[in-house]
Amino acid sequence: MNDKQAKLDKIKAEILAKNTCPDLAKQATQLVFGDGNPDADLVFVGEAPGKNEDLQGKPFVGAAGKFLDEMLGMIGLDRGDIYITNIVKYRPPSNRDPLPEEKAAFLPFLESQLEVIQPVLVVTLGRHSMNCFLPELQISKVHGQPKRKNGQVYLPLFHPAAALYNGAMRQTLIDDFSLVPAILEKVNESNK
Ligand code: URA
Repeated sequence: MNDKQAKLDKIKAEILAKNTCPDLAKQATQLVFGDGNPDADLVFVGEAPGKNEDLQGKPFVGAAGKFLDEMLGMIGLDRGDIYITNIVKYRPPSNRDPLPEEKAAFLPFLESQLEVIQPVLVVTLGRHSMNCFLPELQISKVHGQPKRKNGQVYLPLFHPAAALYNGAMRQTLIDDFSLVPAILEKVNESNK
């Protein structure tokens, strides 16, 4: 097993050992920690697992995940090229929005995941994810625009579940997504 994967496994074990968000844990099937390539340049961060994710133990395996896979395909990537996770790692009941205290409880673990992976670019999916890192910004104003903070570059995108059945937002998300390769290259250049 590679070193990064071992470190990620340790973070997962820590979430369980610390009994993080016990009320959420009680009603969830399992912890949905993250999936993909720990050596990836690109990390995607969603909001919280939904029903399918809760059942399968992997992030973005439902309808929103299928759309995400399609967009990855458009830029020549698949799940093996990226790492994907959520802020909150248990499914909120009835898919309600995660509560501020739930996001706060999981944030240190998300930060640890990013510290291990050291991605070139963090793509945030939806406003919850963006506001974890960039609390002062509004997604309707900054989607598709890379933002650098404390040495890390973030690309805020709309959430694929929100864009899935909304024609205009769907096209905007696809357009923003198509910027990823060029942004990645630019960040790589500027980090040299
Ligand atoms: N929506 C999310 O934010 N995360 C998932 O894992 C699935 C749907």
